[in-house]
Amino acid sequence: MTIANDTTELAVRALKHLAEGTTDQAPQTLDLPVAAYLDEECYQREFDAIFLRRPQAVLLSTEVAEPGDYVARTFLGKPLLVVRGKDGVARVFLNVCRHRGARLCPEGSGRAPRFTCPYHAWTYDREGKLVGVLGASTFGEVDKAKLGLTELSSQEAAGVIWATLTPGIETDIDDWLGAMRHQLELLRLGECVVFTQRTIPSPGWKVTMDGYLEAYHHDTVHAATLSQHTIGNMLVHDIIGHHQILTMSRRNLPELASLPEAEWQAGNYLRRIYAVFPNFQISGIVGGYFLVSQILPGECATRSETIQTILAAKKPETSEDVAAAEAFRDMAFNAVELEDYPIGFGIQAGLASGANEHFVIGRNEPGLQHYHKTVAELSA
Ligand code: FES
Ligand SMILES: [Fe+2]
Repeated sequence: MTIANDTTELAVRALKHLAEGTTDQAPQTLDLPVAAYLDEECYQREFDAIFLRRPQAVLLSTEVAEPGDYVARTFLGKPLLVVRGKDGVARVFLNVCRHRGARLCPEGSGRAPRFTCPYHAWTYDREGKLVGVLGASTFGEVDKAKLGLTELSSQEAAGVIWATLTPGIETDIDDWLGAMRHQLELLRLGECVVFTQRTIPSPGWKVTMDGYLEAYHHDTVHAATLSQHTIGNMLVHDIIGHHQILTMSRRNLPELASLPEAEWQAGNYLRRIYAVFPNFQISGIVGGYFLVSQILPGECATRSETIQTILAAKKPETSEDVAAAEAFRDMAFNAVELEDYPIGFGIQAGLASGANEHFVIGRNEPGLQHYHKTVAELSA
């Protein structure tokens, strides 16, 4: 498939599907064993290979916009401390003191000149260097240079801080993202501000992700909400390495057919969903607002949690702007929490019943097919 970043080309593809009643398809249906959703051994293998050894979208750059800004958050089971140094570089550390392992910084966010351990007051600067040992003359010899915070391989790109969660594994974000980096850069996420953020429980990781990767359920599950604005089961699908972009069309798409192509503002007729493997989704892009979803597998195959962040291209100031941001938030949050996730929890509850040995993934669900093939490929 081509990598489409030209919205005119996307609209041409969408209009063709509209006229012909078609959608982008995988070559055939795919049988997926239900064990892939349930088996704990398989889960541990995949979690280790995919989530702990490959780059993850840990934080949005705007969450630590200024030097000294930090976020301390348990992420995929790892206690992380993300801090922007006075050199402007965002670094990702394990939030664990190098003396005897106390949690260095309480979970949360803020701005701090340095971090002092609550146990014996060892102090680290914003670049992770050990700068203070309480009662140093009594403690004995320590090589401070070797006892800085444990730093993870990380890079900032496209307004996102990416890190690989296993200490000592070096990864390169350009290798990982490939052409997806440019696609993400076009969104200018780094210039956005966080309007609001929350974390909600979600079903098992794969059940949850499946709901983000197809448009087949759109007109049923979201009949009274999203489906009023966008067309279900009609997908323009682009695979970009491990990643993918799903383009859906707004219901006003037919208007484009009557306009000369030179006059098209095609972006106003499309809704794109950026799916960065394995769990970072940017969707619901409307009027300068974005829904960013980070789906974080839990301690077992059957549970996850989702961080939902509403980003705004510019901080809503007027009461009209705030009302628009709140309306976007409600629409996006509700569609996921009240419409998608109850279906997902239902699937989760029935997985072990023995009703299905396999799920059949349709030709019209090419995003799921690519996702599950990528999981298998990277965890083999
Ligand atoms: S564990 Fe942090 S100073 Fe002792
Ligand atoms: Fe949905």
